[in-house]
Amino acid sequence: MARTGRKIKLKPLIRHTVIKKRVQAVARQITRDFRGQRVHLIGVLKGSCIFLADLVREIDLETSIDFIAVSSYARGKESSGQVRLLKDLDSSIAGLNVILVEDILDTGLTLNYLLRVLSQRKPKTLRVAALLDKPSRRIKKIRTDYVGFRIPNEFVVGYGLDYAERYRNLKDVCILQMPPDEASAARPLRQAIRSRGVS
Ligand code: IMP
Repeated sequence: MARTGRKIKLKPLIRHTVIKKRVQAVARQITRDFRGQRVHLIGVLKGSCIFLADLVREIDLETSIDFIAVSSYARGKESSGQVRLLKDLDSSIAGLNVILVEDILDTGLTLNYLLRVLSQRKPKTLRVAALLDKPSRRIKKIRTDYVGFRIPNEFVVGYGLDYAERYRNLKDVCILQMPPDEASAARPLRQAIRSRGVS
């Protein structure tokens, strides 16, 4: 198990060799589903950048990419419950086969917001590809078309996912284990978010 600053521990959950095979399988599925057509991948910054980079190179179709940025997590491990658009798309998606590429589906608030915004822009199709899915934390129901891995309710980093902007460069997806004092400092915020019934 890797150790990092302030006694934070990183426990590998999904090794990069396993991720690579699964990303190839998801890309094959997309290639089959859109045979003969172009797909337009939209990466949700910043967490999806590594997944998108690997995925797009395995898709055997005409592709284009764009990025959108939202903020829902302040600087730590808990969602603020509010989604804000930080960077919009560079170009129109009208008439395109859009695949929204997300690193992880957790409460569903981010994707719920993005799907609402993007569907108003009249894409031909709008699908979701998420590397990871944490179904136990869902607040908003989301239909996912392509999911890499279902994972337990753990905070994970690596392969693009961060904790306070760190660990995105890890090749494996790892569980971030905090020292007890930091973990308990995060708990009141988590409870406040749940009891507010964020919409
Ligand atoms: P949701 O809106 O709660 O579904 O959260 C989606 C976003 O929260 C993701 O795009 C991530 O940026 C972030 N997130 C949720 N869970 C984790 C995690 O375990 N590690 C890192 N980021 C996470």
